[in-house]
Amino acid sequence: MAARPKGASAPTKPHATGKTKPGDTSERVGVVELEKRGVNVKDLVEKLIDAAGAEFTTYYYYTILRMYLAGHEDYKEICEDARLEDRAHFELITPRIYELGGSIPRDIRDFADRAGCPDAYLPNPPTAAAILTVLLEAERCAIRTWSEICDLTIGKDFRTYDMASRILQEETEHEAWFIELLSKERDNKIVPSGHFRRGTPGDAPYSKNRGFYNP
Ligand SMILES: [Fe+2]
Ligand SMILES: [Fe+2]
Repeated sequence: MAARPKGASAPTKPHATGKTKPGDTSERVGVVELEKRGVNVKDLVEKLIDAAGAEFTTYYYYTILRMYLAGHEDYKEICEDARLEDRAHFELITPRIYELGGSIPRDIRDFADRAGCPDAYLPNPPTAAAILTVLLEAERCAIRTWSEICDLTIGKDFRTYDMASRILQEETEHEAWFIELLSKERDNKIVPSGHFRRGTPGDAPYSKNRGFYNP
């Protein structure tokens, strides 16, 4: 870089100030910049709370579903990965809600009620095929949810997009796993998902920034 000629005034720092007054804690530049780029932050926060609610309730319901996969150790293990990864999704996205000025509901009942996906209830009778169908449809709801968040944030809210896209990648894997298992269990059909086991249960390589299975 060429040296500044003697006597020349210092270049201005274009980002030193902006709309938010110095020291003002009532406004977040991290939000102002999103609004400048066309993000409706209020709406986004509401969608993130619904999405976080779905991750949290799914974590709960998958606990029951995993228990009732009794006798199918392979299904149990994969259900456990999906269960723990949903908890990782809740943990990843919840701080973002607060950064954007939002909050999860004070009452867990409100949180469960507004979850963006249906309750993943234990089917009756709790056959493996019926449980795998519930798991598959829960993953599909999650893919739709996180795809929408990606659409709303791509090229505008880089941080939420990064988180949502990591979650979406795991949800996409989860759908493929349950298609493989349900096809075999219900239809005796072979539909490979490309899956091999996580290193440890619920490894969450994308949402926890862990290594991928790539031997
Ligand atoms: Fe999830
Ligand atoms: Fe999932």
